[in-house]
Amino acid sequence: MRLCTGIAAAVVMLILLLYQSVPARHEYKPVRPLHDDAFLGTKGVEEENRTPVWGEFRDLTFEPLLGAFREAAHNSTGPTPAFRSGAIPKFLLWSAPFDGSFWSAQTEDVREGRCPLPCAVTFDPAEVKEADAVVIYIRFLPRRALKLPALEPRDPGQPWVALSFEAPPRANKNFYDDFRLLNGAFNRTMLYRRDADVVVPHGFVVGRGEEAALLPEVWHGPPVSEVPSRERKLAATFISNCKAESGRLDYIQKVQQYIPVDIYGKCGPLKCGHSMYVQDRYSPATDKCLRNTGMNYLFYFAFENSLCHEYVTEKLYNILYYPTVPVVFGAANYSTLLPPNSFIDARRFSPIQLASLLQRLSQSPKEYLKYHEWRQHYHVSLWGGQRSLCHLCVRLHDPAFYRSHVVQDFHSWFVNESRCGWK
Ligand SMILES: *[C@@H]1O[C@H](CO)[C@@H](O)[C@H](O)[C@H]1NC(C)=O
Ligand SMILES: *[C@@H]1O[C@H](CO)[C@@H](O)[C@H](O)[C@H]1NC(C)=O
Ligand SMILES: *[C@@H]1O[C@H](CO)[C@@H](O)[C@H](O)[C@H]1NC(C)=O
Ligand SMILES: *[C@@H]1O[C@H](CO)[C@@H](O)[C@H](O)[C@H]1NC(C)=O
Repeated sequence: MRLCTGIAAAVVMLILLLYQSVPARHEYKPVRPLHDDAFLGTKGVEEENRTPVWGEFRDLTFEPLLGAFREAAHNSTGPTPAFRSGAIPKFLLWSAPFDGSFWSAQTEDVREGRCPLPCAVTFDPAEVKEADAVVIYIRFLPRRALKLPALEPRDPGQPWVALSFEAPPRANKNFYDDFRLLNGAFNRTMLYRRDADVVVPHGFVVGRGEEAALLPEVWHGPPVSEVPSRERKLAATFISNCKAESGRLDYIQKVQQYIPVDIYGKCGPLKCGHSMYVQDRYSPATDKCLRNTGMNYLFYFAFENSLCHEYVTEKLYNILYYPTVPVVFGAANYSTLLPPNSFIDARRFSPIQLASLLQRLSQSPKEYLKYHEWRQHYHVSLWGGQRSLCHLCVRLHDPAFYRSHVVQDFHSWFVNESRCGWK
């Protein structure tokens, strides 16, 4: 009799343990009643429900860099072109004001030799003559005139590269949407967009196994395997820029009329942790605040501050590491960036439809877990505060990069072609 009770207790324990990995059947009381017809069977959901073919997915923004790692792994020694300062190319990074800890974090992969091909960086304008290229951070350029006396006289054989991590609305506060001053000033572009000469993604997703093995280990990791909290709440978000251009707060407040969404950061009542600036070298795996949200909510609203073509920030990749489902809102085609069934695109739903979908998924562990199947096939970027400038190193080895080329209409390329939705 005793033994039986013991076995029964053990079985119950086991079931409880297994059940921890799926959401509890919470009845999330909507703030306002939701009716079945709130959910209008949109096209979005039919697509989300398609059975994915895992091998087919490629992260298109990461592809150029992954390709370079693949090549580097297959060719033991390539031809070595001559560079100005020796055997490897060197670039001068120019930013005024210069923030040492920011740039030291940004160039960590370059300096630590983690790129597919080696290159060197200097921050000292006195070394401009030895540089194979000059990278100019456009964020702080003044509006009046593009005069950079420290770099004079300009050597026409040395490409100038315009670097921005941000989309046009936040790329330079002196320019707003008028970047005509930079027309004809640069030879190459460096941006998160795939049509840039050098692509600087804010994160990536890579296939497990062979593909991931090509990369430095510190760049990626299996998504967290810890069991999430059993009593997970429905949804959370972090917002610090309350007047963000994309109108995201507006949308979230409408969703909040139907379901609870916890808002952390400056624009909400909840506070959490410290800043997540690049120079703080935070990492998704060790950041307490991300961990708390990632482990305690079923959904995370990863809304971009600007609605611009292909613009997504590391906010998205950081939270993907945790066993929550990102609800995205941005002007990227997320299917080119993230595996199938790994996200929910809020722009395909009205606030009430989204509320209804999240509520339905939260009540169906089977449906909810479909949004985590991708984790068995992919790793996600662990870049936090140390983004890579590695694609630049690769491009600096390519003679084509030094061919004569001028970005005549920078404004049109940067502003018009970013197709930002201004509100
Ligand atoms: C590596 O080898 C392939 C084919 O063997 C070639 O197409 C490619 O250009 C080489 N890459 C480099 C960087 O040498
Ligand atoms: C988004 O990307 C996917 C995958 O490449 C493609 O099939 C789809 O047509 C794209 N959608 C839009 C609206 O461009
Ligand atoms: C770079 O652009 C400058 C300014 O337009 C131009 O004078 C120079 O010839 C260009 N150099 C290269 C290598 O394209
Ligand atoms: C880019 O947009 C501006 C308005 O912002 C317009 O005046 C200009 O003609 C556009 N340029 C091109 C090449 O379409």
